[in-house]
Amino acid sequence: MMIELCDSGAIRDGEITRVTAPGFPAVAIARHNGALYVFPDRCPHADESLAEGWIEDGRVVCGVHFAEFELGSGEVHNRPVGCPNLSFFRCEDRDGKVFATLAVEA
Ligand code: FES
Repeated sequence: MMIELCDSGAIRDGEITRVTAPGFPAVAIARHNGALYVFPDRCPHADESLAEGWIEDGRVVCGVHFAEFELGSGEVHNRPVGCPNLSFFRCEDRDGKVFATLAVEA
């Protein structure tokens, strides 16, 4: 089921925004070259907030340890030990709202 997250107009190109939907872990929403990306707001290796990072060369950069994740594929670069690729949620812009298929926390 797709969950409504926020107004898509609130997500500006080149920025990452933290959003919470009731009952789900926080997610980060990024827009790059017009496209939206939704992913967990925590790095897969050490739980830092990725919304506190930034976008550079089409990658999300963790602001604490500088892992870089390709927007879209999630492939990790500059990998800290034990850091896997990032997973993205399926998302869409529907009538000016961002919707995504979120996973319930295990
Ligand atoms: S928490 Fe993983 S690179 Fe920072």
